[in-house]
Amino acid sequence: MKIVNSIEKLKTGLAQEKREGRSIGFVPTMGALHDGHLSLVKQCIEGNDVCVVSIFVNPTQFNDKNDLATYPRTLESDCALLEKAGCDYVFTPPEAEMYPVPDTRRFDFGTLSEVMEGAYRPGHFNGVAQIVSKLFDAVEPDRAYFGEKDFQQIAVVRAMTKQLELAVQIVACPILREEDGLAMSSRNVRLTPGQRQKAPLIARTLKESTNFVPGKSVKEIVGHVVHTINNEPQMRVEYFEIVDGNTLEPIENWADTTYPVGCIVVYCGDVRLIDNIKY
Ligand code: PAJ
Repeated sequence: MKIVNSIEKLKTGLAQEKREGRSIGFVPTMGALHDGHLSLVKQCIEGNDVCVVSIFVNPTQFNDKNDLATYPRTLESDCALLEKAGCDYVFTPPEAEMYPVPDTRRFDFGTLSEVMEGAYRPGHFNGVAQIVSKLFDAVEPDRAYFGEKDFQQIAVVRAMTKQLELAVQIVACPILREEDGLAMSSRNVRLTPGQRQKAPLIARTLKESTNFVPGKSVKEIVGHVVHTINNEPQMRVEYFEIVDGNTLEPIENWADTTYPVGCIVVYCGDVRLIDNIKY
C-alpha cells in the first residue's frame, strides 16, 4: 500500500495504473475509520482493479469550529486498517495541498442542498462539493463510493458530478450499524458511556416506525418519532423529515412518492448523530 500526500505523486502513480489498463475505485473519507468506512473500501476493492482511499478532514465543510477541533484524528491506525483491508493507495494531503489558495467557488444545487443538512449546516454542502470535486480531479476515478448514512450527501455529490460533467460513477453503499442498531460514525467515540447506551434509541425508533406505514399518516409518524426520542432526557431531535429519496422534497402523503426516506439528526449531549430509514 502506498501512502502519498501530494496530488502530483498520486497522479503519477495512478497514471501508470491507468496506462496499464486498470480501473480506479475511490473512497473519500475524513479518517477515524470504522467498519462503516471499511465496508465502502471492501466494495471498492471488489469492483475495481485499484482502490484509492483519501483521508482529509476538510475544514470548508465544518460550520462549527468546535466540531472541527474535536473531530477524531487517528491516521496511523487508519493506515493499518486500510493496509489490512487491501487498499492500494492512501491519499493523506495536508491542508495546503488541497487549498493552496482559498476556494471561492459557490455551487448551486437548488433544493437538494437547501433542505435538512443544508438548512441546519449552512455552507456544509458547498464545502463537501469543493473538496469532493478537488479529490475527483486528483484521482479521476472510474467509480466513487459513498455511504447512505449521509443520504443527502450522495444526492449532492451526484448533482455535482452532473453539473461538472464528470465521468465518475457514484456508488451508494448501505449503512453499517453496531449490533444494537446505532449507525456507525466517527463521532460515536465522543459519546459518554451513558449516552452510548441511550443512542440506539434513534435507530430503534426509526425501525419501529416502519411498522405503522401506511396505516398512520406521514405527520403522525413524524410526530411519533420526534416525541419518542425527545422523551429521552439526553436527546434532542434537531430535525426529522420524510422526503422523496430522489428530490429530497418533504412529502405530505405516502402516495406523493414511491421512495419515501426518513432523515433524522439527533443531538445526544453535544454529539450530533445522523441516521435515516427507507419506508
Ligand atoms: P466521512 O464522514 O469520513 O465518511 C466517509 C464515507 O463513509 C461517507 O461516504 C459516509 O457516508 C460513509 N460512512 C460513514 N459511516 C458509515 C456507515 N455507518 N455505514 C456506511 N457508510 C458510512 O462523508 C465524509 O467523510 C465527507 O463529507 C467526505 C465525503 C469525505 C468529504 O469530505
